[in-house]
Amino acid sequence: MNKSLRNAVIAGNWKMNNTRVETTALINELAPLVKGADCEVVVCVPFTNLQTAVELAKGTNIKVGAQNCHFEKNGAYTGEISADMLVEMGVEYVVIGHSERRQYFAETNVTVNKRTKAAIASGLKVLLCVGEMLEDREQGITDELVALQTKIGLLDIDKADLDKIIIAYEPVWAIGTGKTATAEQANEVCTMIRNTVAKIYDQAAADAMTIQYGGSMNAANADELLAKPDVDGGLIGGASLKAADFTAIINAASK
Ligand code: 13P
Repeated sequence: MNKSLRNAVIAGNWKMNNTRVETTALINELAPLVKGADCEVVVCVPFTNLQTAVELAKGTNIKVGAQNCHFEKNGAYTGEISADMLVEMGVEYVVIGHSERRQYFAETNVTVNKRTKAAIASGLKVLLCVGEMLEDREQGITDELVALQTKIGLLDIDKADLDKIIIAYEPVWAIGTGKTATAEQANEVCTMIRNTVAKIYDQAAADAMTIQYGGSMNAANADELLAKPDVDGGLIGGASLKAADFTAIINAASK
């Protein structure tokens, strides 16, 4: 399938960065720079900035995402935020299963799957993160591990709901380290993920799925990564915090 038929999505994952004042400044700077973008532009901001981001993004082509949501609809889950709460605010996307949540907050493939199902049931689009640690790559188990994360992440999800899911391949060793996967390494795993989706569903479903790469993507390497046939976009950390750098990546995806 021609890659250009898939939706290219460039999403910024701000992580735990930016106050509301900084959010206002960054979105106001970004909006005019990306208004001609020929790809989906998303900023995933901390919970406390969502309202501000949603208001500022109105009338622009910037979509707003959260960085997590809980899998229950409501209840005694102190400190958690439900998918319905996000939808009510006008949030459209949510990052699920980021490696930092898996590493530091005991997220598992099973909870990632539960959160993904809850998010799509509420009408959110999910950026479902998968990716291996350095030792996994060194042990030669990247494909098995990422296929497992993909399979469990998508467990019991209907084919009809796949258009609400974007898979983000983020090798953990490339996140925030300045060590980008080579374009070939990124494409290889994105192809493997697509083949895994084809096995679970069918080739048409796999061909239609947007698969992003994330991990030290920046203005200098975005062109090469995004030119690869199975890399349909990027999930950007550090470089999404600077309007000019994020715009350069968006421009690379718009080519
Ligand atoms: P960096 O772009 O800072 O490496 O972060 C990638 C990431 O984790 C996006 O979710």
